[in-house]
Amino acid sequence: MFREVINTISPYIPGKPISEVKRELGLEKVIKLASNENPLGPSQNVKKALMQNLDELGIYPDGNCTELKLKLSKKLGVKPSQILIGAGSDEITQFIAAVFINPGDNAIMAKPSFPRYETVTKVMGGVPIELPLKDFTHDLQAFYDNINEKTKVIWICNPNNPTGTIVTRKELYEFIKSVPSHIAVVVDQAYKEYIDDPEYPDALEWLNEFGNLIVLQTFSKIYGLAALRVGYAIASEDIIEKLNRVRPPFNVNHLAQIAASVALDDEEHIKKAKELNKKSLEFFYKSFEQMGLPYIKSYGNFVMVDVKKDAVEVFKKLLLKGIIVRPGDIFEMPTYLRVTTGLESDNMGFIMALKEVL
Ligand SMILES: Cc1ncc(COP(=O)(O)O)c(C=O)c1O
Repeated sequence: MFREVINTISPYIPGKPISEVKRELGLEKVIKLASNENPLGPSQNVKKALMQNLDELGIYPDGNCTELKLKLSKKLGVKPSQILIGAGSDEITQFIAAVFINPGDNAIMAKPSFPRYETVTKVMGGVPIELPLKDFTHDLQAFYDNINEKTKVIWICNPNNPTGTIVTRKELYEFIKSVPSHIAVVVDQAYKEYIDDPEYPDALEWLNEFGNLIVLQTFSKIYGLAALRVGYAIASEDIIEKLNRVRPPFNVNHLAQIAASVALDDEEHIKKAKELNKKSLEFFYKSFEQMGLPYIKSYGNFVMVDVKKDAVEVFKKLLLKGIIVRPGDIFEMPTYLRVTTGLESDNMGFIMALKEVL
């Protein structure tokens, strides 16, 4: 009855929802630092715009996301026809697999990395070629060495979720240049807006040079709109036109489109979120150092810390104290926790709880 491949696919394990933990454990206050969201959420401007736009809920949204694409095109310096909007960038990973992967084709990706690359490949009957990280980051030499006639898509998560590491400008540029032009190279930049480091490459700069490049970005992270589900791909007009063929007609809802359009103008709010993240990471680093716990320096809004014990056990004990994080077993890093940066009080709450648990 079921396709054979379905038995090989594990369902995505999301961070535990706050409501579930409250209900299960009878807790009143729960801190979630598990899904790399922005603890500030969206700006007041976004909330106001949402309230003012409740009158058109009875009609279908603009399936083309015309206004949002126009705003993005101005901001990014690309044509609207080079943009595709998805219900989260996650949805676009499915479109990419659907457009490029035939049964038996290969897609190269790092392990651990964002798990959806593997799933969407398998769903299409493709074979994920998962290459271990080197020094916690993508081993692009190994990527290159594994390219063959079956390779159709290469996924690069920059910075990488869950490790927070980056591939640098020169490395990435040289790598993309070395990839045959019939293979799609996807650079997932979900956390790009958090980064100031000049070594970090914004792959958008190379769009004109590489017709096989697809850049993924999202409103779920620094823009604080994870609940509304908006992400986007930027690529050549040809690739976008093909991705558009497999996109459901009304995949991005009306309120999500409005929120994302308004959020793009939220420069002050974004700056605030970025500063908060920087401070939070510094606080985490200092605390981990005091506790003698190794950690991986992160370019995102999350950090992996080695608790030197079974992380699932530590995760469970933290949960009893109302703190939700991610245990590293799902990333095959069994003594690590991945912790998202939160509000100052949440960060302190986490560190205090971690000290008690350890
Ligand atoms: C690297 C990466 N890509 C994509 C996503 C999905 O984001 P979205 O909410 O836009 O689907 C995430 C979410 O955690 C992520 O970490």
